[in-house]
Amino acid sequence: MLKNAFYLFSHLRYAAVGAAILFALPAFAQMTITGTSEAGRRLFYSPAISANGLSCAHCHADFDEETYDDGLIRAGHSLFNAYYRTTWWGKDPEAPDAYATIDEAAVVCVLHYMRNKDKLTAQQQLDIRAYLKAISQRALRTPLALAPAADHTGEYKGFEGGNRLSGKDLFYAACHSCHPNGNAGIAPKPLARNREPAYYARVVREGDGLGSVLSGIDPNAYSFKDGRFSPFFGADRLSDAQLRDIIAYIKSLPPPSRAN
Ligand code: HEC
Ligand code: HEC
Repeated sequence: MLKNAFYLFSHLRYAAVGAAILFALPAFAQMTITGTSEAGRRLFYSPAISANGLSCAHCHADFDEETYDDGLIRAGHSLFNAYYRTTWWGKDPEAPDAYATIDEAAVVCVLHYMRNKDKLTAQQQLDIRAYLKAISQRALRTPLALAPAADHTGEYKGFEGGNRLSGKDLFYAACHSCHPNGNAGIAPKPLARNREPAYYARVVREGDGLGSVLSGIDPNAYSFKDGRFSPFFGADRLSDAQLRDIIAYIKSLPPPSRAN
């Protein structure tokens, strides 16, 4: 009797586990198979997937910047038509460490720049992938030619004598989102006003070190542990002449506001 009751109980238990698996299965399958571009678009604009207030939209457009110039200068290229590229981050598509899909390539930014060490969930990756696919109307396979512009001599000469008036507009277009009026914002500290032009040029060209790695100067220039996340601006995002003007503007700024 006791034994039968035990059997019954244990069978019920298995049945319950079985039912739980059966019920969970469709939801699980759905979760791993599909991503939606609506959810991906929300993630693209969401600072919630970062640890520092950055969203993808701080550094990448999701439209054709040449046709619809919104006046902003972002460190990264637009992700419009980027989905079908054969490779990302300049990797050889055949190399074992090449990214298989665009969302894998994006996780580099989530880790490096957005400082989210948990990266993205599988579902979030699929949603971002679906969105990046939705904004790629043409199957352009050409990889993006990276143009990091760190100075191999390390001297960064020729950044003196810029025009601070045009530098002001350029600063608002390229730097203000993280350095509001030169004060602390997403970047943790106010910008220094009194450094040599070469100092500013290096930070903008090398960023948190990744610009130096990609320029082939120092493979160890970036370290996650340093906690830094400033993006590098390549030569095709910001020209030397534009950078020179921005530097003149920063040097002309009043001292950081008291609140900083
Ligand atoms: C702080 C700035 C920053 C943020 C935030 C950022 N990225 Fe990037 N990302 C870059 C830079 C710089 C590159 C280097 C290539 C370039 O110039 O576009 C890059 C490269 C990429 C690439 C590879 C492009 C290629 O074809 O080689 C992808 C894909 C990408 N980012 C997607 C994303 C997505 C999606 C997000 C949000 C989840 C994101 N990034 C957030 C700055 C950023
Ligand atoms: C996406 C955010 C972001 C953008 C855009 C950005 N920066 Fe920064 N910047 C940072 C962060 C974060 C730091 C702090 C160092 C780090 O984390 O790598 C920093 C540090 C700096 C520093 C060194 C700190 C100091 O006080 O001297 C300079 C100079 C600088 N940025 C200049 C610029 C200029 C010029 C631009 C525009 C061309 C720019 N940054 C655009 C995020 C940004």
